[in-house]
Amino acid sequence: MDNIINIINLTKQFDGNNILNNISFNAKQGEIIGLLGLNGAGKTTFLKLLSGLIEPTEGEILILGKKPWDEPDKILKNIGIMIETPVFYEHLTAFENIEIHLEYMGVKADIDKILKLVGLVGVDKKLVCKFSLGMKQKLAIARAISHNPKILFLDEPINGLDPVAIIHIRELFKTLKKQGVTIILSSHILNEVFETVENIAILSNGSLDNLGKISLLKEKYGNQLENYLIERMRGIKNA
Ligand SMILES: Nc1ncnc2c1ncn2[C@@H]1O[C@H](COP(=O)(O)OP(=O)(O)OP(=O)(O)O)[C@@H](O)[C@H]1O
Ligand SMILES: [Mg+2]
Repeated sequence: MDNIINIINLTKQFDGNNILNNISFNAKQGEIIGLLGLNGAGKTTFLKLLSGLIEPTEGEILILGKKPWDEPDKILKNIGIMIETPVFYEHLTAFENIEIHLEYMGVKADIDKILKLVGLVGVDKKLVCKFSLGMKQKLAIARAISHNPKILFLDEPINGLDPVAIIHIRELFKTLKKQGVTIILSSHILNEVFETVENIAILSNGSLDNLGKISLLKEKYGNQLENYLIERMRGIKNA
């Protein structure tokens, strides 16, 4: 299978510091990759670069063969993004927010079905400004998937979700994967990452290490896997 995400020698500097340093990385269709790293490691920065929201300092990013910063219009419809605090039309409903997004994307979809998919039910008339944290989080996921993109970049998507919602979203991601959607998600909740993702990549000291399949890591490290990953996040390679 071809890589649908290709990253070649990517460097991102802020104020002269290399936050991401010479990263090369690929992802194939239908992979779910968990992006781990301590606070400030560069996860959000990495996802913003892949989404074309910020410009690389050096190197190349190819999403479906296109450069997200230079050719955003060519990939816009193919990616779903949920990064940091999502911005909504606060004085509209969830339905209306998705409706506007779909109009912008030029795509038609069953909005009620999408809201149900993320477990956002019984909020027909409620304005988004009256939503709880978890409700907004679900709406952000709904918006990211609504136009049926091939790739999802999700920054801490399960933040603030209750345990029922987490299971729901986990199943949703697995269904999307089966449909061939590629997902890169960041998370601090290791147990959830173990349940949801297929591959793990760790950002530490500006480098991105693809640790490969979680199933193999589980076999190798057993109940020490969490400790191993924490050491890797702290930059200790021979943990
Ligand atoms: N616009 C910016 N200008 C200057 N520095 C920035 C900017 N954005 C991010 N940084 C710096 O880049 C580094 C990585 O930040 P980033 O938000 O990507 O980390 P993160 O891994 O997402 O952390 P967290 O787990 O806390 O969300 C931090 O040192 C941060 O201060
Ligand atoms: Mg972040």
